[in-house]
Amino acid sequence: MLNLREGADWSGVSTETLWSGVMASPHEFHHLPPRFKESAKAGVAAPSTNRFLDHAAMRRLSPPAKRKCFTVGIQKGGVGKTMIALNLAATWATAGLRVLYLDLDPQASATNFLLPPEADYDRLLTSLEVCLQPELTFATAATTTRFAGLDLVASKPAIRKTDPLLRDMGALAFLESRLANAPYDCIIFDVPPSLNELIMGAYCLSDEILMPILPDIWSIESAVLTIANVEEELALHNRPVPLIRLIRNRFRPGRIASAEAQEMLESELAGRLLPHCIPETAAIQNLVNDGKTALQGGSAPLREIFLKLSATLWHTGEPHAQTA
Ligand SMILES: Nc1ncnc2c1ncn2[C@@H]1O[C@H](COP(=O)(O)OP(=O)(O)O)[C@@H](O)[C@H]1O
Ligand SMILES: [Mg+2]
Repeated sequence: MLNLREGADWSGVSTETLWSGVMASPHEFHHLPPRFKESAKAGVAAPSTNRFLDHAAMRRLSPPAKRKCFTVGIQKGGVGKTMIALNLAATWATAGLRVLYLDLDPQASATNFLLPPEADYDRLLTSLEVCLQPELTFATAATTTRFAGLDLVASKPAIRKTDPLLRDMGALAFLESRLANAPYDCIIFDVPPSLNELIMGAYCLSDEILMPILPDIWSIESAVLTIANVEEELALHNRPVPLIRLIRNRFRPGRIASAEAQEMLESELAGRLLPHCIPETAAIQNLVNDGKTALQGGSAPLREIFLKLSATLWHTGEPHAQTA
């Protein structure tokens, strides 16, 4: 959940304005924690960080007005793509967006993270079934997750078989047609480091690509390569290039490698670099191991980083006409 100040920051209004939305129809917020309800009923005007808003409340108070599609990807493994994609998706859902997470990595680590314990993994539909069964769309193949507002198209190792089936139709046309009219505000692709037809389709369909960068030369080289590959593919389809932005992960102040990487980023990719920086911390590893997101169990600074990053990505940068 977001506290009132975080909800107001996300919505771009004052806490008083957001709170007056609650006061206008307190009965609509009956599912929120007791302290919140009591304040609303008693007409308490002073907002406090003890009042929390969940997905449904945020959606009612600040309905999303656009649709946007993201890929968190780069041709390099272990840079934090899945960790970042999961935290963004969960934060967006908490902020009131309806989010569809497409796990296109056969290793399925995001699928394992998002599913509730009672989910019947064997029965879940993946992009392979969507490809094999023309009547299926990604929205109908999606399953609910442990997070309100966040649905998942699961991954299994067998999704590796999808790619050869797409050679005739083309991955971009496949993704576009089977995502058309999907009832989501936000679509996010979690991709493996490899680049096949399907993965390239995801990059090309996206309004925005987010590339996590570790403080090493190989991440920066991978970013340069991935940008060139995506631009080349889009030129073939005569389509606009998505906004491509870089996020620094595991940078450590005072470390030589981090300072060198920073210098290289500033000279080669400065215009694409986001101001946010995700620190290297055992807390992140512990959260992943415990099945929690930064909003659920992170420290205050970590929570703040993902709130700010998700707001920047959602609110800034223009979506493409074809997915708007
Ligand atoms: N900033 C960080 N601090 C600590 N551990 C991290 C951080 N970022 C990622 N990790 C850990 O590194 C591993 C690889 O991250 P993951 O998101 O799976 O990468 P990718 O999807 O790019 O392969 C995971 O175990 C993850 O928890
Ligand atoms: Mg991954």
